[in-house]
Amino acid sequence: MSETVRLADYTPFSHSVEHVAMTFRLAPEATRVTTRIRFGAGGTALRLDGEGLRLLALRIDGAAVSAEPDATGLSLTVPDRAFVLETEVEIAPAGNTALEGLYMSGGMYCTQCEAEGFRKITFYPDRPDVMAPFHVRIESEMPVLLSNGNPSAQGPGWAEWDDPWPKPSYLFALVAGDLVAHSDRFTTMEGRDVALNIWVRPGDEDRCAYAMDSLKRSMRWDEEVYGRAYDLSVFNIVAVDDFNMGAMENKGLNIFNSKYVLALPQTATDEDFARIEAIIAHEYFHNWTGNRITCRDWFQLCLKEGLTVFRDQQFSADMRSAAVKRIEDVLTLRARQFREDAGPLAHPVRPDAYEEINNFYTATVYEKGAEVIGMLKRLVGDEAYGRALDLYFERHDGQACTIEDWLRVFEDATGRDLTQFARWYTEAGTPRVTAEESWEGGTFTLTLSQDGAKVIPVAVGLLDPSGQEVRPTEVLELTEARQSFRFDGLAARPVASVLRGFSAPVLLEKPSSAEERAFLLAHDTDPFNRWDAGRSLAKEVLSQMVVRGDAPSALWLDALAEVVLDGGLDPAFRALTLRLPAEDDIARTLHEAGVTPDPDRIHAARRAMGDALAERLRDGLGDLVAPVPGPWSPDAGQAGARALRMQALGLLSRLDGGAEAQRVFDAADNMTEEVGALSALLDAGAGVAALRAFGDRWQHDRIVMDKWFTLQILHAGDAPAVTAALVEHPLFDWKNPNRFRAVFGALSANHAGFHRIDGSGYRLLADWLIRLDAANPQTAARMSQAFDSMSRYDADRQAMMAAELERILNAPGLSRDLSEMAGRMAG
Ligand code: ARG
Ligand code: ZN
Repeated sequence: MSETVRLADYTPFSHSVEHVAMTFRLAPEATRVTTRIRFGAGGTALRLDGEGLRLLALRIDGAAVSAEPDATGLSLTVPDRAFVLETEVEIAPAGNTALEGLYMSGGMYCTQCEAEGFRKITFYPDRPDVMAPFHVRIESEMPVLLSNGNPSAQGPGWAEWDDPWPKPSYLFALVAGDLVAHSDRFTTMEGRDVALNIWVRPGDEDRCAYAMDSLKRSMRWDEEVYGRAYDLSVFNIVAVDDFNMGAMENKGLNIFNSKYVLALPQTATDEDFARIEAIIAHEYFHNWTGNRITCRDWFQLCLKEGLTVFRDQQFSADMRSAAVKRIEDVLTLRARQFREDAGPLAHPVRPDAYEEINNFYTATVYEKGAEVIGMLKRLVGDEAYGRALDLYFERHDGQACTIEDWLRVFEDATGRDLTQFARWYTEAGTPRVTAEESWEGGTFTLTLSQDGAKVIPVAVGLLDPSGQEVRPTEVLELTEARQSFRFDGLAARPVASVLRGFSAPVLLEKPSSAEERAFLLAHDTDPFNRWDAGRSLAKEVLSQMVVRGDAPSALWLDALAEVVLDGGLDPAFRALTLRLPAEDDIARTLHEAGVTPDPDRIHAARRAMGDALAERLRDGLGDLVAPVPGPWSPDAGQAGARALRMQALGLLSRLDGGAEAQRVFDAADNMTEEVGALSALLDAGAGVAALRAFGDRWQHDRIVMDKWFTLQILHAGDAPAVTAALVEHPLFDWKNPNRFRAVFGALSANHAGFHRIDGSGYRLLADWLIRLDAANPQTAARMSQAFDSMSRYDADRQAMMAAELERILNAPGLSRDLSEMAGRMAG
């Protein structure tokens, strides 16, 4: 049985660590790690973490000591004063398929230590509140040897690195490989000259330009907006093919999943480019929010992740279109975080208990964590937010902090009491806010109520019946169960635009007619709410198609056509408006309204909705699918134009059977259009030839081939059958997390396919989760989240999903990771 770790049990570590010196003698099967730790005085009992380490030698102040490690570490009796502990251990990176600790990927050595991987490298107090400067020596025949900090010395077959900034062990990194660099330089606002390198395998060096450009823009932006400069003479990024997550912010040596670094217009879609820009920024921003100021314990994970996501969202908004970025972020939040919050995996932004911390790198910690910071900024205002952040960096630099520290900074900077606001960190679930309106004698009253007791910033603006804004956006603070807000002196009853910019991560319930939402879709001056009016209308139309078998309403079709065909609007905005609600979103919404969702009906209704839209837009589609002018660029303007073109192409394929999509596919010179056209062809049932051509063209490109796997499953009629065939494909390398996710992520994202009533989707996923768990628990656990929507569905499907969870729980040798996840979902 796994132990539950609780926030309430936190105690500081017994000893301080003054300095760490490590030597690695790298070998795939037997790497020797010698670690010399200078401890301060702290009593005679010392407990170190360590897992799967062969202990070869142990010395205290130079004298040999004998000790037997147990399964999770080493207990020692030590002198009651400062002392030096030396250990020598042996580890086998080649056999490390969990991709945590020191492992090998494509012939290179690399590490992933967050959250608790360092204990698989050496015996150490592997917890974020123990911070120390590190010196690292690497001995290996590999030509490129990297670690944290600044290079200090090197010779043939060895290199030494020195990291002067005290850091927790989770930020440790080491890379050794046959790598080439795409290099550049950056001069910080403090005048520091920094060497920038993106290290990749030979042959990939021509794919690094966009990541490098993103890095330089991130460095400049953090100086200009947050006043934060880089603090070492070198910044290294390494791309690896086998990686459990997106990327990792190790001090001075960020390690990236290669798909978030490598990009050419021919290989990466506009979305890929945007994600690369965001993740490069995210990891770079961690240097201050995460590394210089880190977390006291893993319960405080949102301290660095929520803040850093918020910062990368701000950065992308500045680089691109703020309105479009906000819509995209809310789409993701609702799809992932609202779903998580509505199911058995719901947890507070700051959880208070866990079995396996890797299971808490969630949409709630990351994305809701970022929303909470956005609310704080909205409540105190931009200027006070800036002052609070300055105080945070000044007061806590070099420390391991808590959410209490973070909130106190805001209290001290603004004089505001944040006791009630703190509930956002400690309570799980998506609050429901209800809005009611009344109108009397020139006074408009908006009454807001909530089902909890939080502080909720609700941004509101008022439009007059002609669509003119008569009250600009104002942030109302809902702090009580029910509160009324009055707007006086109005000439006519206004239309209220509520929760502008999605000012709080809540479910807003506002009884309003379809006409009113169509009005807002046509006129709202707040771009987010304008889009959201269309979205809520579309969801209502689709729900009625599912439940009552209605035809899509002319009101919705006309209102949508108005926006989509308006050449004066940003194409990216029009593309987002044209995107139909996801099947999973409709299933969740129906469930919340007390209707059991039927995946087949939802799928059929959504197709019918698209067909009707294609008919309605028939005359305009020709113009919309015209080529995007100008030389290719990854910028927001062109990306938006391509997004609109691809949306329109998907609709046109419903009318012409894919003829135009085939032409676009054949002529495509960039991946956005190649994938967009292929998707349209697959949806039209005309994708066989294009799919083969795509596979032939890209068979040697791992990152692109992930798309080939994903697309077939995502657009399959019988997704489990297509998946079952694809896992037999010679290129299905299930130990590569990207490939596993490309296949099984697509299976669970194909709503109707995954939920097939014969249970084949559930069974297939469970089979492969059990298999993957033995090699890579972390990715298996993450992918198991597909089952978290179980309680929405009918009794048959629920029983089948429950049976698969049970089968997983009974699998011999199940990891702590997957056991915790399956256990929570099985209830
Ligand atoms: N700190 C990394 C990031 O968000 C993610 C690392 C996650 N690692 C893990 N084992 N769950 O940038
Ligand atoms: Zn992060």
